Amino acid sequence: MSDNSLRAKVSLCNKFETYFSVGVAVESKYLDIYSPTIKQHFSTITPENAFKFENIHPNVHKFDFEEADLLVEYAKENKMPVRGHTLIWHEQLPDWVKKRLTNETNPNNAWDIVEEHVSSILDRYKNDVYCWDVVNEVISDDGKGIRDTIWRKALGEDYIEGVFQIARNVIPNGKFFINEYNGHIYDKRESMKKLLDKLSLNGVTVDGVGIQGHYNITFPTIEMIEDELKFYSSYGIKVHVTELDISVFDYFDRRSNVKKPTIEMVKKQEEMYVRLFELYRKYSNVVENVTIWGVSDKTTWLNDFPVYNRRDWPLLFDSELKPKNVMNIIMNI
Ligand code: GLA
Repeated sequence: MSDNSLRAKVSLCNKFETYFSVGVAVESKYLDIYSPTIKQHFSTITPENAFKFENIHPNVHKFDFEEADLLVEYAKENKMPVRGHTLIWHEQLPDWVKKRLTNETNPNNAWDIVEEHVSSILDRYKNDVYCWDVVNEVISDDGKGIRDTIWRKALGEDYIEGVFQIARNVIPNGKFFINEYNGHIYDKRESMKKLLDKLSLNGVTVDGVGIQGHYNITFPTIEMIEDELKFYSSYGIKVHVTELDISVFDYFDRRSNVKKPTIEMVKKQEEMYVRLFELYRKYSNVVENVTIWGVSDKTTWLNDFPVYNRRDWPLLFDSELKPKNVMNIIMNI
């Protein structure tokens, strides 16, 4: 069977292509082992870490584009649109930024860092990356407002607006997102609404909201996620599900001695994946892309979080890269 006919036969992204694109997050070091799976099942790529500040801009005025270039080249060769993740975030910052922002008393100097960072990256990749998570995780965990981060302290209350304006100046017709988690919780969603309203009132265009989608088999419920999609649908803004994975551990389950998932865990995970894909299809008027946060369980970030060095099994392919049973079920919904 040729590559093309195989893909036509069993391919996750082909299955949903009339509803939304299906992407995956990767690191260039795994492209060798993951490439056949990526090509068969996914049609967009998110660099898992390559665009993060500490990797792409490790020193003052010094960028390191090597990793990002490798992924962008790979995506180009395979005609896969790239999601740019992420420009301004309070995590994975290099020490020089943390030091400068902490000691800075003049916001203009902090803005110079943002300006150089955002415009250098956007300028370099403007023809190769189709959308950007301009800011990441900007709503506070209690859902009461804008998160108090090192960026906000240095740049001022309304910094998100400024970051979007810088981005918009570089790519006037760019597709710019706010990427966030826990929007299935009412207060967080309300804060997001306030932020979107304010940006729009001030003439700042946000093209979409990223729903990260780091879930586990007990939380959140499908009903909560549906409420979130209904909300964005009636608000009239597009959604990308940017980082989907489903841990087999409840968040408060910190056991580290589980050798493999129980049958019950697997069943619950299957059910949740299937119901999610059904839901995304139902809301395809608003959901444009669904990205899985990693190809296989072998390299998932959850093998180190929230318990360091504990195995988890959150993805669609097992550690041997075999599609799990859930793939068969999803392919037949
Ligand atoms: C957040 C970030 C992602 C990634 C995950 C964990 O969701 O947005 O880039 O770091 O945490 O892998």
